[in-house]
Amino acid sequence: MAPADAGNGPANPGIEVGPIDLAARVDEALHVQAAAFGLSQDEIDVRRHIVLRHLDHPQARALGALTPDGRLVGFVYGLPNDRTHWWSTVVEPYLRATGSDGWLDDSFVITELHVHPGHQRHGIGRTLITTITDAVPHPRSILSAIDRDSPARTLYGALGYRDLARQVVFPSAPLPYAVMGAPLPLLGPRG
Ligand SMILES: CC(C)(COP(=O)(O)OP(=O)(O)OC[C@H]1O[C@@H](n2cnc3c(N)ncnc32)[C@H](O)[C@@H]1OP(=O)(O)O)[C@@H](O)C(=O)NCCC(=O)NCCS
Repeated sequence: MAPADAGNGPANPGIEVGPIDLAARVDEALHVQAAAFGLSQDEIDVRRHIVLRHLDHPQARALGALTPDGRLVGFVYGLPNDRTHWWSTVVEPYLRATGSDGWLDDSFVITELHVHPGHQRHGIGRTLITTITDAVPHPRSILSAIDRDSPARTLYGALGYRDLARQVVFPSAPLPYAVMGAPLPLLGPRG
């Protein structure tokens, strides 16, 4: 487990980042995501099925940030990109239009990254995403984030992710996304 306590705010004593059985803790994780990102109960129910399906992939990886008494306060998960998967088929035409669809090959996708609001700005998000990507064999990582200034976009930029496509519309998502890619290893300090 890696300590995550390098941030600006008051200390978050004893938070540890390490592998978790995310399928077994999916409800806890969705509780964190709902608090961090805002999800309705209907969206939580839909996400539960999607997360469990993703985690069936043999190369899916998940890390959690845990308090000393074992509460989950942040998580990240991802899997290698597959051009036949739904997410990849949606972003592919946008990346092709910017000449960057090569990023879809041999790339590790960060599918979700969330830190509970009560534990943000203590280096947990950075530790989660750098620890998961440091452990994969892929030379690059891609992800999508709502296309607006946000803590997530600031974090991804600081780690070396750059915009591959903007204003990407996912069916059913109310806001457009940016698709971002970074060479691995990511930039910056480790937790
Ligand atoms: C994005 C998120 C995971 C970051 O987690 P975190 O633990 O708070 O982030 P860290 O403390 O590791 O911050 C790392 C860097 O990100 C940037 N950052 C994080 N929060 C920021 C904020 N509120 N404002 C500006 N920059 C911010 C900074 O560059 C920061 O480095 P610094 O502290 O040295 O300045 C968290 O804000 C979150 O869960 N947001 C809501 C959910 C979400 O948007 N998830 C991503 C979906 S694509």
